[in-house]
Amino acid sequence: MTRHATTPFEGQKPGTSGLRKKTRVFMQPRYLENFVQATFDAIGGIAGQTLVLGGDGRFFGDAAARTILKMAAANGARRVIVGQGAWLSTPAASHLIRARSAMGGIILSASHNPGGPDEDFGVKYNMGNGGPAPESVTAAIYARTQYITEYLCLDASDPDLTTVGEAQLGTMVVEVADPVEAYADMMESLFDFNALRAMFNAGFRMRMDSMCAITGPYAVEIFERRLGAPAGTVTHATPLPDFGGMHPDPNPTWAHELMAEMMGADAPDFGAASDGDGDRNMVLGAGIYVSPSDSLAVLAANAHLVPGYKSGLKGVARSMPTSAAVDRVAAEMGLDCYETPTGWKFFGNLMDAGRVSLCGEESFGTGSDHVREKDGLWAVLMWLNILAVRQMSVAEILQDHWARFGRNYYSRHDYEALPIDQAEAMLGDLRTRLDGLKGAQFEGLSVESADEFSYTDPVDGSISTGQGFRILFEGGSRVVLRLSGTGTEGATLRVYLERYAPGPDGLEHDPQEALAPIIKATEAIVGIRERTGRAEPNVIT
Ligand code: G1P
Ligand code: ZN
Repeated sequence: MTRHATTPFEGQKPGTSGLRKKTRVFMQPRYLENFVQATFDAIGGIAGQTLVLGGDGRFFGDAAARTILKMAAANGARRVIVGQGAWLSTPAASHLIRARSAMGGIILSASHNPGGPDEDFGVKYNMGNGGPAPESVTAAIYARTQYITEYLCLDASDPDLTTVGEAQLGTMVVEVADPVEAYADMMESLFDFNALRAMFNAGFRMRMDSMCAITGPYAVEIFERRLGAPAGTVTHATPLPDFGGMHPDPNPTWAHELMAEMMGADAPDFGAASDGDGDRNMVLGAGIYVSPSDSLAVLAANAHLVPGYKSGLKGVARSMPTSAAVDRVAAEMGLDCYETPTGWKFFGNLMDAGRVSLCGEESFGTGSDHVREKDGLWAVLMWLNILAVRQMSVAEILQDHWARFGRNYYSRHDYEALPIDQAEAMLGDLRTRLDGLKGAQFEGLSVESADEFSYTDPVDGSISTGQGFRILFEGGSRVVLRLSGTGTEGATLRVYLERYAPGPDGLEHDPQEALAPIIKATEAIVGIRERTGRAEPNVIT
């Protein structure tokens, strides 16, 4: 074992989910090592502990895994369970940490960001509950990066990750595990696989686009092998180091191949895509797109039809910018409904405390308390199970849902790579004007309230401030504005637009059309176009 001298560096900022940088930054001498050692130090050391390790297959992931294994051995870990080929989807890693009672796990991914030598890489530490590290831990990791002086690494040849089995690395056991099996088994325990097999057998057609990222092997095993969907149902099924040049973010913009197929003639009954590390999902029916906020609401309203949730839900949660569609379901079904800041870690506390079973974000994240991360394939299986029980199409399920609960028209507009100063000044000005907005009229809409969201965690009492601006208009419409915390270039402004139509009238509009008055009022209030010179958003979801 060698103690390598090193120097402080600019690592993960407190409160952010892992460290994400350009791959070449991670590949600099000592950079990955510094961050991993800072993590080990900040969590009190790993001597005698079991850890889980794996990632989404992106460039540098396997090399990083081999380095981390040698560092874990030098730091005295007892065992590291690593996915074969250094592969583990984020939800599968979360499951393994929980199932094997590991101290925690390291996930090698930059989620939905593109991969490759000139794209992004990331490292994230998850806790023993399987969920992302809370702010107290990310703050400790950050603090450690500021005064780190050495890292430990075993002088050994690189461990082999290609074959399932156990090997010794110093005094540590490296357990190379099949990345898919335990996860697929868990899915089989939650869903009615017999009913799904019967549905595929009867000719149900599905397209799953894994976008050359990690869910490919999982989707092939679950849909094609275990459920009998025809071979080829899963496309872009082989994880590639650069995701085949795809931007593995399952939204209408980036999953355009899937969109085109699902909106075209002869579309399959059901379509889905997932992101780089497999925690996000987009679902579609033939000719119809399901917004993530609506998806969460539909899953909440129908979860009792799925074996894993047949005794009902404990409660539900959504991030603040996610539409209030699920709130309406919760109100009718007598469920507690929590509104949390953006980011999955806030849901973990609620799930650990047994307060919620289902949660979701507008950013294509849906999940339940089966793990402590969002879970793309889980959401796809929820939909499939509901379709199998209700014997309706996706479009019919949505129509039925809107007729019963009303419709929350919803869209997110992203303005990417803005100059940071400009974006901060724009929102800084809005902050000073919030109080004056109440009661004022903009483009014929009157403002009911305007504030900046802050959250007191009902479980541990921790307070998170500055979580986005909310402007509520009369009649349940609103706009939310916040800056992204995950971008790697400049600032990304996210504008979340919502308008409620109680139904049964007014359920059939195109969302951008239905939201036009809110878009206009937002421009009148914030002046995005005027201040940034951007005629339109880069991405509309
Ligand atoms: C984005 C999403 C957020 C999600 C996060 C991690 O964060 O908006 O909902 O939890 O990615 O997947 P943002 O870039 O908006 O800070
Ligand atoms: Zn992801």
